[in-house]
Amino acid sequence: MSTVNFLLLSGSPRGKTSTSYSLLRYLKTQLENLGKSCELSIAHKIMRKEADFENFSNLLDSADYLIVTMPLYVDSLPSHVIETFTRLLKTRRNNSFKGTPKFLAIVNSGFPEQHQNLLALNICQQFAQEANLDWIGGIPFGGGAIIGGTPLDSSGGRGKQARFAMEILAEALSEDKEIPEECISRINKLIIPKRIYMMMGNIRWRKQLGSNKVRDRLNDQPFLASE
Ligand SMILES: Cc1cc2nc3c(=O)[nH]c(=O)nc-3n(C[C@H](O)[C@H](O)[C@H](O)COP(=O)(O)O)c2cc1C
Repeated sequence: MSTVNFLLLSGSPRGKTSTSYSLLRYLKTQLENLGKSCELSIAHKIMRKEADFENFSNLLDSADYLIVTMPLYVDSLPSHVIETFTRLLKTRRNNSFKGTPKFLAIVNSGFPEQHQNLLALNICQQFAQEANLDWIGGIPFGGGAIIGGTPLDSSGGRGKQARFAMEILAEALSEDKEIPEECISRINKLIIPKRIYMMMGNIRWRKQLGSNKVRDRLNDQPFLASE
């Protein structure tokens, strides 16, 4: 049976054109350059085929690290990441929690403040505890939307801080050290003023309202309890 040092899982439904995937792809290259073996998968893809999920789950039993990246969805995890975690938990319970890989998660958000991602990271930590994974911490990434799924090595200035963060993360993990504080501060350095970032976000949001023909429904509150 094959084994890997680092099992990497991207949790964005946008697949290979997501910030979550581009972070992991760059991290994988750094780790491989340092002599580590890695396997990179996409959550909704491994959930589609029984054999793929089984392979992932078997690799997890003997991996040194599990690293999961994902977007923040409504202050929480995307639904199929929840589904993947739930299924992994069940499988690990059935095999008496074989192996205790170290686990870290990176959650990226549209809003630029890193604290937006803390609740989602707490949920990941809770999963780690229940699934007998060794939680080594989370990396909140505010404003990950600026990468917009571009591969980090071709994202120029936009991806500069994220590249640096992934490089120092790979170096630390390959020596079994903690997540460097600098990794978190670097990845959260906005390359444009926050005011401009928010303005661009609002323009994009309004464009999407237009292309989906729901401009007049921006203030809808469908889940508001009726009096
Ligand atoms: C359904 C949905 C819900 C979202 N909820 C939030 C949110 O609660 N807070 C936030 O800051 N960004 C939110 N976002 C923005 C994404 O987190 C952001 O665009 C992220 O960079 C996407 O990462 P990805 O490319 O890895 O998928 C949401 C996006 C979608 C599509």
